[in-house]
Amino acid sequence: MKSLQAATSQALSIGLRKQSLQFPSLCAIRRPLLQDLNSQRRFIMSNSAAWLTAPKARPFEVKSAPAYTPEEHEILVQNRAVAINPVDGSLQAFAWWPMEYPTILGQDVAGEIIAVGSGVTRFKKGDRVVGHALGMATKRVQDNGFQTHTILADHMATPLPDTVAYEDAAVIPLGLSTAACGLFQESPFLQLDLPTHPAQKSNGKAILIWGGSSSVGSNAIQLCCAAGYEVITTASAKNFDYVKKLGASKVLDYNSASIQEDLTKALHGKDIAGVLDCIGGDALKISVDVLQEVAGKGVIATTKGGVDNPPEGISIKRIFGTTLKDNAVGRAIYVDYLPKALAAGAFIPAPGPQIVGNGLEHVQQAVDQIMKGVSATKLVVTL
Ligand SMILES: NC(=O)c1ccc[n+]([C@@H]2O[C@H](COP(=O)([O-])OP(=O)(O)OC[C@H]3O[C@@H](n4cnc5c(N)ncnc54)[C@H](OP(=O)(O)O)[C@@H]3O)[C@@H](O)[C@H]2O)c1
Repeated sequence: MKSLQAATSQALSIGLRKQSLQFPSLCAIRRPLLQDLNSQRRFIMSNSAAWLTAPKARPFEVKSAPAYTPEEHEILVQNRAVAINPVDGSLQAFAWWPMEYPTILGQDVAGEIIAVGSGVTRFKKGDRVVGHALGMATKRVQDNGFQTHTILADHMATPLPDTVAYEDAAVIPLGLSTAACGLFQESPFLQLDLPTHPAQKSNGKAILIWGGSSSVGSNAIQLCCAAGYEVITTASAKNFDYVKKLGASKVLDYNSASIQEDLTKALHGKDIAGVLDCIGGDALKISVDVLQEVAGKGVIATTKGGVDNPPEGISIKRIFGTTLKDNAVGRAIYVDYLPKALAAGAFIPAPGPQIVGNGLEHVQQAVDQIMKGVSATKLVVTL
């Protein structure tokens, strides 16, 4: 009996040894795979979001959100700072854009990459980035900003140099994308020459940017200067120095009763490349009149609209600030231009951030604040 037991146990132990000898390569392959999965899990299992639970719901509810895995040409970012835009307030208050609820808002994120999808060659885990969260266009919750982790398309993100803090970088994306859509997309937009670093030499053409101290305007001034255009803009008198530092050659006070005459005089005799209206309404009406008077024709790209039947020769095109993701402009800005210009300090994240608080619990307060209006300021929540 004893010898039978001994024989069985010897046979078993030989069998086990054989087994592990037979599959050493599989074990070796599995271990790093599991380590990879575990390290990804460590980061993404704790995602949480400021949820908009139903149309016009208030306040945002901060609670857990799904864990995401980046797909092809996507990166998963652990957000360190998110910025607030007027659209976040208007979407919450008026629910004017079709969305599936519960949903998440937010388009501006800066943070650290914790995973990259297949085909991503520009980035690796650990890189610091800023990028445009495109959820308003894609309608996927993972593509929104007001959560601790966001999926970005790799061509709509830019690496951050060490000199640029997350809270500074977060001010950039929607303002930059919107300006770029109006300025550089093909006709019926302005179809201007693209910006470069170092900046293009002057091409002798001028552009009117109405609302230079706004987020869209601040980005537009810098983009136009880098593309070789002279910028004439409008702002309140207290922001004249601010827009000049960004590169505007002339700034006029839009609160002045003579703004139309002032602009007509400033643009007289110039070769006008078009108008970017960052404000809409009366600003657009006056822009139409000025353009007609000084050039007789031309294109106005507008963030808001407000004129339905422009006079003959003047065309008006409304911007939707995410469309550049689907054409060459997105890459031209986030891949080709911005990384170099940011690293060289030639592009300044503007307007500068006002930190509303740390943590997603502060998103509601920040969104309430944007609804009251800001001046040459971007509201930011750090995470
Ligand atoms: N269509 C799109 O895809 C899209 C995308 C982004 C934004 N938008 C819209 O575009 C507008 C601008 O957005 P934003 O984020 O750039 O806004 P913002 O930075 O919050 O706008 C605040 C700035 O607007 C300026 N401003 C207000 N009224 C003005 C006027 N009549 N003329 C000139 N400047 C004026 C203020 O200048 P002063 O302080 O110097 O007075 C202030 O600095 C918003 O209505 C937003 O909803 C649309």
